[in-house]
Amino acid sequence: MNIRTYCETDEAAVAALWRQAFAYTPPWNVPEEDITRKLAVQPELFFVAEFDGEVVGTAMAGYDGHRGWVYYVAVSPKHRRQGIGKALMRRVEQALAVIGCPKLNLQVRAGSHEAVAFYRRLGYDVEERVSMSKRLKGLSPEGDEREGRHV
Ligand SMILES: CC(C)(COP(=O)(O)OP(=O)(O)OC[C@H]1O[C@@H](n2cnc3c(N)ncnc32)[C@H](O)[C@@H]1OP(=O)(O)O)[C@@H](O)C(=O)NCCC(=O)NCCS
Repeated sequence: MNIRTYCETDEAAVAALWRQAFAYTPPWNVPEEDITRKLAVQPELFFVAEFDGEVVGTAMAGYDGHRGWVYYVAVSPKHRRQGIGKALMRRVEQALAVIGCPKLNLQVRAGSHEAVAFYRRLGYDVEERVSMSKRLKGLSPEGDEREGRHV
C-alpha cells in the first residue's frame, strides 16, 4: 500500500469511492467539482492510498493559516480495518505539521459513531461546538445580489 498525492488520472476512481463511501452526501457535493476546486488550492494536501495499482483510500486536507481541516477520509469497504485510514490520517498530520499547522479539525456527521470511534483511536477528541455554515454561491465581490445588499 502506497500513499501519494492525487493525480488527475485518479478522478474516476476517487469519485466512485466517494459515491460509495458517502452515499448520504447532499446533491450539491459533486465529487468531480470538489476535486476540480481542490486542484486549484493546495493540491499537495490531497492524498490517495493505492494498493495493487488501485485507488483504495483518500484524504483531502487544507491549512488556512490557523487550523488544518480534513475532508473525504474514505477507504473502500473491502480494504477497511487494515490500517489504511490511519496511514492516510498520519500522512495528512505530517504534511500539515511540516507547514506549521498547530491543530487539525474535522467534522463528522451526527450519528456517525463508527467514524467517531475511528478518529478516537487516532487520538482525536470530541469538542463541543455548533457547526455553522453559509453557502457562498451567488455572492459576487460587489455584494450579495440575491439579497440586494452591497457590502
Ligand atoms: C472510517 C474509515 C475511513 C476507517 O478506515 P480504515 O482503513 O478501516 O481504518 P483503520 O483500519 O486504519 O483503523 C484505524 C483504527 O480505527 C479503528 N476503527 C476503524 N474503523 C472502525 C469502526 N468502524 N469502529 C471502531 N473502530 C474502528 C481500527 O480498529 C483501528 O484501531 P487500532 O489502531 O487500535 O487497530 C472507513 O471505515 C470509511 O471509509 N468509512 C466510510 C467513510 C467515513 O465514514 N469517513 C470518515 C468520516 S468523514
